[in-house]
Amino acid sequence: MQSLLQHANPAILSLSPYQPGKPIDELERELGISNIVKLASNENPLGPSPHGLAAANRTMAECHLYPDGGGFQLRQKLAARHQVDMAQITLGNGSSDLLEFVVRSFVTPADEVLFSQYSFAIYPLVTQAAGGIGIAAPARHWGHDLTAMAERITPRTRVIFIANPNNPTGTWLDGDSLQAFLAQVPPSVIVVMDEAYFEYAHYPAMGAAGYPDTIPWIARYPNLVVTRTFSKAFGLAGLRVGYAISHPTIADLLNRVRPPFNVNAPALAAATAALDDHEHLEISLAENHKGMLKLQQAVAAMGLTAIPSVTNFICMDMAQPARPLYDALLREGVIVRPVANYSMPNHLRVTVGTLEQNQRFIAALQRVLG
Ligand SMILES: Cc1ncc(COP(=O)(O)O)c(C=O)c1O
Repeated sequence: MQSLLQHANPAILSLSPYQPGKPIDELERELGISNIVKLASNENPLGPSPHGLAAANRTMAECHLYPDGGGFQLRQKLAARHQVDMAQITLGNGSSDLLEFVVRSFVTPADEVLFSQYSFAIYPLVTQAAGGIGIAAPARHWGHDLTAMAERITPRTRVIFIANPNNPTGTWLDGDSLQAFLAQVPPSVIVVMDEAYFEYAHYPAMGAAGYPDTIPWIARYPNLVVTRTFSKAFGLAGLRVGYAISHPTIADLLNRVRPPFNVNAPALAAATAALDDHEHLEISLAENHKGMLKLQQAVAAMGLTAIPSVTNFICMDMAQPARPLYDALLREGVIVRPVANYSMPNHLRVTVGTLEQNQRFIAALQRVLG
């Protein structure tokens, strides 16, 4: 085996793969139980946009053909929606694809990539895979400390990742703080604003006053790359489609590393239709807000605390090692997400589910806490 790995890329050899939330099927196989509730991957519990689903289904009769590699219709719709040029848009197989394209385009071995402590696990992974050096700035109140981040910019910094809102903590940054930060970043350093949970934070009832739409800022900060996804509020996680909006020069680079046909035909059609499905989005956001309040109340009633979140998940401090509680919840048929891999061993991250799913989780947690 040694000889097979002799010439393997050392950066890849030492890589620990991303750990997704436990799939329902896997728990069914392991414990032989059914009626499982999965609140582990921040998916939309109401399901896909019905218009998106219908559009995806319509493509199936033509699945012997390659999809439109340029994703014309989706890019056209996104360009109109965000009032940018089509040449500014890059499509990804999920927005995680785009995070990787940025690193592949700008990071060579020994370059630095800056992100925050307790931020999305993909950032250090894609950095390491490219041979780059990940620099984690200390967090403040579990969220990004932009002062600490600015202090860590060096001549070797190539990319800065900011998740707004942040996963796994659900924290967010306001527009004024972000603009003050951007003004300090050298124009040659790429800043990725990862807005996977944009729609939730932007929803007024969530109370994230001052949460910005950063896409119009690209005109002022051409080093800004904004990424968004159809995996969360639009309910299309299984189809894998996300997008980046950037200066056309950056988009051109990202499109060079983008594999051909990286977004499949059902995904393109579903995303295009889902953008016009305002009803599904509105219901999803309203239900999420109600569910969030319910979970926050339940946490408080159990004498626990949670990190304030403006997303579709909430990170709870169990005040004890969370792993045994996670295992006990699995036996109750409830899958949540342990976050010890983020150095948060006492926390569990829980996706806001339907009313019924939230009640199942709360009842199960009450039982496992005794
Ligand atoms: C902060 C953040 N960014 C990006 C993603 C990637 O999502 P996707 O690749 O499904 O678009 C996620 C997924 O959980 C996330 O939490």
